[in-house]
Amino acid sequence: MAAPVMTSIARGTEPLLLPAGLPAPDHVPADRVLDLRFAMGYVPNDLADPYVFAQRLRAPGVPRLLWYPYPFTTFTCGAWTVSHYEDIQRVYEDNECFSAVGVAQFQVLAGETFPSLPLGSDPPDHGRYRRFLTPFFTPKALNDMIPYIRSVVTEMIDGVADEGTVDIAYDFGRIYPVRIFLNLMKLPFSMFEQFLAWEWEILHSGDPRRVGTAVAQVLAYLRGFIAEKQKNPDDGVASYIANGVIDGRPLTDDERIGMTWFLWLGGLDTVASTISQMFRRLAMDPTLQQRLRAHPELINTAVEEFLRTQPLVNSHRQAKKDFEWHGVTVKKGDWVICLNSAGNFDDKQFACPHQFDPARPVNRHYTFAGGIHACLGAHLARRELRVLLEEFLRRVPPFRVAPGADTTVTPGLLSIRNLPLVWDGAVQS
Ligand code: HEM
Repeated sequence: MAAPVMTSIARGTEPLLLPAGLPAPDHVPADRVLDLRFAMGYVPNDLADPYVFAQRLRAPGVPRLLWYPYPFTTFTCGAWTVSHYEDIQRVYEDNECFSAVGVAQFQVLAGETFPSLPLGSDPPDHGRYRRFLTPFFTPKALNDMIPYIRSVVTEMIDGVADEGTVDIAYDFGRIYPVRIFLNLMKLPFSMFEQFLAWEWEILHSGDPRRVGTAVAQVLAYLRGFIAEKQKNPDDGVASYIANGVIDGRPLTDDERIGMTWFLWLGGLDTVASTISQMFRRLAMDPTLQQRLRAHPELINTAVEEFLRTQPLVNSHRQAKKDFEWHGVTVKKGDWVICLNSAGNFDDKQFACPHQFDPARPVNRHYTFAGGIHACLGAHLARRELRVLLEEFLRRVPPFRVAPGADTTVTPGLLSIRNLPLVWDGAVQS
């Protein structure tokens, strides 16, 4: 367990370590090559605020661009990192210098070459894909889904009402977003368990062969589903994509599977991890829980604050050309990782950034990234989180972490597998 070391790093009592014997490209100065794993969200810890470590990178005197010499995806090793809000903003918004092509390409492990869409595309193609999908993801379209979302939450709370306990991560967070997603796509509920099993293999097995096998199975299923929806269309997103037309031409097979696959991938574990971490904080902070119970009108801004303080994904982009930045040369082909885990706590952007303020008035965080690739599912995710909080806090008595339960969290996408909560008294109807 790395927690004690991490705690001392967070306090600033450990030096930033130079990695032993890890090479970097010639254009990267040796003093920029650091062991930044503590900031990447890969190391579990048990702190109330699991994201404090990355703040070290914004200390005075620490260079703005540092080189991370380790693998950060299955395919990519070594990258610049940026940790200041304004630098992250540049990476997201400067489409002349940075490309998203090649991002989120798990399917390569299954021998596939199609891009994940719309994420793995640049302007002008990206704008076409994004406009094509947007009608299903507008605030208005998603407001129409709220009754369904609420009915799922209600049914799930009913299911634990007599128990006095729930594993909020495993029995709630893991399942709830999948149910909403199936409804949105009009995928069959008979696939529910199978989707969860595949998703687990892809995001959690950590074994490239198992990931490749699961991805191949998902893709085979989704391709069959697309073919079926071409024959028998309905009003779901999958059918819309299967029969999609952009600029007067039908989508290609790669475009159809690229969009269907990335939607399948994008919305499941992200919401699940957010739910687990949100309830972890609430269970560990009775005052905050009490405040939200007394003031449900704060739930909207509180959800945004949960999102800001739990950035799950550190997005990455590839340099499209050589350029100078903060005293180094970024070369065409270099990857740049946006440490949202640091930028979301930049005190130039957020007052008292490590203080959880459920009423924070302005909260332009990067948990959903930024620029043209800002999460398309953000409005859906927000609604899923809000409705869950509204119903849970209204119906379930004050809850706490079950005695003896492990509250260790990985401050990123994988977060927390089990988080049993307990309460005293009856669940309201
Ligand atoms: C709390 C939940 C979520 C979080 C934290 C999250 C996070 C993100 C992030 C960080 C990106 C940008 C990735 C990058 O720039 O490399 C992204 C993009 C995207 N997300 Fe989400 N996401 C969430 C939920 C969802 C849901 C529910 C869906 C859909 C059902 C979804 C669909 C997408 C899509 C399609 C993109 C690509 C947008 C584009 O390239 O234009 N996400 N998400």
